[in-house]
Amino acid sequence: MRAVVYKGPHEVSVDNVPDATIEHPTDVVVRITSTNICGSDLHMYEGRTDFEEGRIIGHENLGEVVEVGNGVHKLKRGDKVCLPFNIGCGFCENCEARKTAFCLEANPGFAGAAYGYAKMGPYSGGQADYLRVPYADFNCLILPEDVAEKENDYVMLTDIFPTGWHATHLANMSDGDTVLVWGDGPVGVMAAYSAVLRDASQVLIVGHHADRLKLAEDFGAIPINEHEVDPQEQIAEYTDGRGADCACECVGYQAHNQHGEEQPNLVMNNLVQGVRPTGTIGVVGLFVPEDPNAASEMNQRGQIAFDMGKFFEKGQKMGTGQADVKAYIRRLRSLVHHGKAKPSLMLSHELPLEQAPQAYQNFDERAAGWTKVVLKPDRSA
Ligand SMILES: NC(=O)c1ccc[n+]([C@@H]2O[C@H](COP(=O)([O-])OP(=O)(O)OC[C@H]3O[C@@H](n4cnc5c(N)ncnc54)[C@H](O)[C@@H]3O)[C@@H](O)[C@H]2O)c1
Ligand SMILES: [Zn+2]
Ligand SMILES: [Zn+2]
Repeated sequence: MRAVVYKGPHEVSVDNVPDATIEHPTDVVVRITSTNICGSDLHMYEGRTDFEEGRIIGHENLGEVVEVGNGVHKLKRGDKVCLPFNIGCGFCENCEARKTAFCLEANPGFAGAAYGYAKMGPYSGGQADYLRVPYADFNCLILPEDVAEKENDYVMLTDIFPTGWHATHLANMSDGDTVLVWGDGPVGVMAAYSAVLRDASQVLIVGHHADRLKLAEDFGAIPINEHEVDPQEQIAEYTDGRGADCACECVGYQAHNQHGEEQPNLVMNNLVQGVRPTGTIGVVGLFVPEDPNAASEMNQRGQIAFDMGKFFEKGQKMGTGQADVKAYIRRLRSLVHHGKAKPSLMLSHELPLEQAPQAYQNFDERAAGWTKVVLKPDRSA
């Protein structure tokens, strides 16, 4: 089969690799028909993780079940399924508590597993013709027949839509809140979209890409372009000087300043400033416990200069971590199925698998117009 293979910093190629197969009776094999490139893939693509060369990337996967292990109960060949990016066992303490991003079984010695992802276990990614899915009854969500028209919406359920939703949950959002979203990538735009769907009174989204901010403006968020205005002044203006009720951090450790230099503490401290006293900050942008390629020694140790004093003084709270996609995916599937949500609004490019190298480069450069890419392995180049 063909697969997108990581070759080293800024290099992926589409190679012929051995087919995905059933390795355990509870596995299925899925023929992938849609698989997205994610901002999380870019940390690996840029060589900013210890993702091993030669591994297959891709954790936002949707396709058709083509092989079923003997121990699988509910799935059958021909089912169209969508796969949360985290792999859960379904029976450990954390999976039982719906905290499936922190499964204790799927990746022994580490809380959390995912497809084609640094540190998240030996599982191959789905930017390929076929994908092995472990604990398949738990990890496959069967899709209704309208997948024929809504595949590009359903594939957003594998990560960015539930991750955006999770950000509003970590931020302890209530209806009527002013929600501040920092970061205008796919996750930030989906956090803003989730806040709108969850009846925020206003959603402020800060970024500096006109094309990305426009997508959010189109569904009712208020765009704040940090290259044109002072975001803190704008936040104060929209909240009568109080600050936002809660905030979603959707950038992560590779935040960069106006001069394009990385400054991992920048967004976190901006949120402490922009959120009102006793408000909550939900952090879904990725932070890492070590970052050997960071500019400062402190950042190399995975530490940031965080405004702890201000955070304490304001009595704020914070929630962090990978999104527990399983906890939301059924309800978000219903929103798509019944026409209440259309997360494919983020999508700019549908490309055959062969064009993955070019797509990675453009998405990594945040080239204008490249807001989100889905690869279609069953389409010819
Ligand atoms: N927690 C989870 O489960 C989860 C899931 C998916 C992605 N992520 C993480 O979320 C983050 C965002 O991912 P994404 O897919 O949206 O991709 P992305 O990398 O394209 O999004 C980041 C956006 O923030 C912008 N940005 C950078 N510095 C900024 C700053 N100082 N102020 C405002 N905006 C700034 C970037 O230009 C970009 O548009 C990444 O760190 C990714 O790893 C987390
Ligand atoms: Zn992702
Ligand atoms: Zn588990």
